[in-house]
Amino acid sequence: MINIDIKNSGSYTVKIGSGLLDTIGEEIKVLGKVSKVCIVTDSNVSDLYGGRVSENIKAAGFDTCNFVFPFGEQSKNLNVYRDLVEMLCENRFTRSDLIVALGGGVVGDLAGFAAATFQRGIRYIQVPTTLLAAVDSSVGGKTAVDLTNGKNQVGCFYQPSLVLCDPDTLATLPEEQYRCGCAEVIKYAILRSREFYDDLMKLPASEQLEHVISTCVEMKKLYVQEDEFDTGARMFLNLGHTIGHAVETLSSYTTLHGQAVAIGMASIARSAVHNGICSEKTLSDILAILEKYGLPTENPYPAADIIKVMLSDKKLIGGNLNLIVPEEIGKCKIVAVKTEELERWVGF
Ligand SMILES: NC(=O)c1ccc[n+]([C@@H]2O[C@H](COP(=O)([O-])OP(=O)(O)OC[C@H]3O[C@@H](n4cnc5c(N)ncnc54)[C@H](O)[C@@H]3O)[C@@H](O)[C@H]2O)c1
Ligand SMILES: [Zn+2]
Repeated sequence: MINIDIKNSGSYTVKIGSGLLDTIGEEIKVLGKVSKVCIVTDSNVSDLYGGRVSENIKAAGFDTCNFVFPFGEQSKNLNVYRDLVEMLCENRFTRSDLIVALGGGVVGDLAGFAAATFQRGIRYIQVPTTLLAAVDSSVGGKTAVDLTNGKNQVGCFYQPSLVLCDPDTLATLPEEQYRCGCAEVIKYAILRSREFYDDLMKLPASEQLEHVISTCVEMKKLYVQEDEFDTGARMFLNLGHTIGHAVETLSSYTTLHGQAVAIGMASIARSAVHNGICSEKTLSDILAILEKYGLPTENPYPAADIIKVMLSDKKLIGGNLNLIVPEEIGKCKIVAVKTEELERWVGF
């Protein structure tokens, strides 16, 4: 088992290890002063792991209730949030009780937001069951729900009390979801580590999950500790995401997030070569790892369309848009691009 301590306004430990799913009850005891536990999960994860987790927590002596919602991003909304906090209220939850967010990023974001706001904040544990949640959304305390016209429009920063990541749960992930998680894993390698890139090329991530997840969490830790509230260094985590979000939007979300991020990373690497920031070799290394993990690298949309979406959904800072651009594997930099120069950077 690997423990990683994160020091933010609320400090917590990320525990990563096979079998951790069956220790949740004991881990809750360690937190102290909990009597009731609400397990929040989606319909898929509930079928797979809900019963097991619930039994485990009951066996440790806690009263439990379950809140299960239909899987998918369309559930990450104010109605489901409202049903959840109403249920907590009906079950007389107090600030000494606890929420367990069992699932992917949708569960984590929604349950985290409910924990942050119910009675002005009750404790919650993240139990990520997707690769994306394990390496990204369960760490860093961003919580949110979507509005009709925008993702993550209502939310706040609220740190969990503990993150328990059992890589064995990833065995049931659909292949596509696994690959999407790999796009985020590859992002960390391009951002910070040639050595990690080599590890991922040598052995599939699925055969070294503890190493992969802990390496990504250690890297995310550096950004979130430096920039808890996302005003600076966390911006690097947007590698591939600025163009990726535009691709997601233009495809009407038929291109999955991880696939769009992969296209975004390939596209920005091509433009980095075009603008003399990285070598052809770095570009071909980036394309090689994305292809090895079954991710798309071709951007099907014209630059003008991408730019239009980018300008409509991104914050401009002093008339500039910040792009995260690879210089070599393990090293990226922020380039502030004037809107009228975006064409030099987008659509490759
Ligand atoms: N808070 C953050 O910092 C942050 C960061 C990145 C993304 N996010 C958010 O995360 C969400 C995406 O997360 P996601 O990709 O995990 O999506 P998700 O939670 O919808 O999970 C993807 C699918 O996998 C299923 N699933 C989950 N675990 C499973 C398992 N072990 N076996 C089989 N199926 C399983 C789910 O039911 C779902 O159908 C988005 O809403 C995004 O905005 C948040
Ligand atoms: Zn992402």
